[in-house]
Amino acid sequence: MISNSQCDRGISFVGCGSATPQKIITNDQLSQRVDTNDEWIQSRTGIGERRVISENESLIDLATHAALNAVKMANWDVKTIDLIILATSTPEDLFGSSPKIQSNLGASNAVAFDLTAACSGFLFALITASQYLASGSMKRAVVIGADQLSKWVDWDDRKTCVLFGDGAGAVAVEAVNDETGLIGYDLKSDGSKGDCLNLSQSNNFLDLIPGASYQKGEYFPIKMQGKEVYKFAVREVPIILGEILDKYQIKSDKIDWLLLHQANQRILDAVASRFSIPSEKVLSNLKFYGNTSAATIPLMLDEAVRDQRIKSGDLIACSGFGAGLSWGAALFYWHGPY
Ligand code: UT7
Repeated sequence: MISNSQCDRGISFVGCGSATPQKIITNDQLSQRVDTNDEWIQSRTGIGERRVISENESLIDLATHAALNAVKMANWDVKTIDLIILATSTPEDLFGSSPKIQSNLGASNAVAFDLTAACSGFLFALITASQYLASGSMKRAVVIGADQLSKWVDWDDRKTCVLFGDGAGAVAVEAVNDETGLIGYDLKSDGSKGDCLNLSQSNNFLDLIPGASYQKGEYFPIKMQGKEVYKFAVREVPIILGEILDKYQIKSDKIDWLLLHQANQRILDAVASRFSIPSEKVLSNLKFYGNTSAATIPLMLDEAVRDQRIKSGDLIACSGFGAGLSWGAALFYWHGPY
């Protein structure tokens, strides 16, 4: 377990932002392509529609927009940003998309890098950023979760294509010497179950010269054993959240908002019921965006901050989970201006 008790300084959440593509694809529209229907998708997942990046948009643009909104909310000069981490499994450039975002923002003093942990990516990136801030080596960080799973979904596989969408969200976090926003966290991986959900490379070797071959860079579409991932999520998320609540001696009735990775409404409901958290405190926007992978948590946070459901000082219990398999949880207070 990684614990922020090892760090010298606290972390404050001071801004958030998000951006989503223009194009909406409803369940009814999807049923024109695959054998599915709105009733099945809504009742099994809570998803009503999702958004898909079109030709005139890009993941980097969405991520830049989300980051800029977070920086504006935090009221930061972009030159004071030290670190930008882009959590994504779908970069535009496999060498990394975050430097482009850094230059788009004009954050010329920031170091930027990508981090991949699928749907847990935002949480993993947030905890990574918090280590730089808490150690005192950096002061201000922007953590972005952005994914374009639409380009890796098999749009003829009804078991997966109905679930995913594109989007971006971001938070601005800074090191503080007084009361911390980030109370505690834990991150986990289990690669032995990685086959339950993957976007793996094809093993396509082509002739290079006589006697030598090379592997062509290409990937298979997303493959998922839905039931296994479902069981993993409803088993592990309550355990990891429960451990953090116990560690910091926080009773679940003190949680203002349950902010989970938006994968399936039934997963959100199952986790909430394990902690007796009433549905009014369970944040969900699955209906409008589906599962946007690394983007779901900051996208949901931004929506609930801007519509003033989440207020400064609110306690948020957050958990992300997904491919890897990977999962994590964090407890934090929101300290933004709303
Ligand atoms: O970010 C983390 C990523 N993923 C997840 O968190 C996903 C976790 N898993 C799930 O959310 C659920 O397992 C699913 C929503 C993916 C599937 O729900 P399910 O209740 O586990 O359904 P199932 O896979 O057991 O399928 C039940 C039936 C099957 O038909 P038969 O074999 O019973 O005749 C499927 O073929 O539903 C059928 N089905 C569909 N029918 C209409 C599967 N997908 C669809 C569809 N439309 N889109």
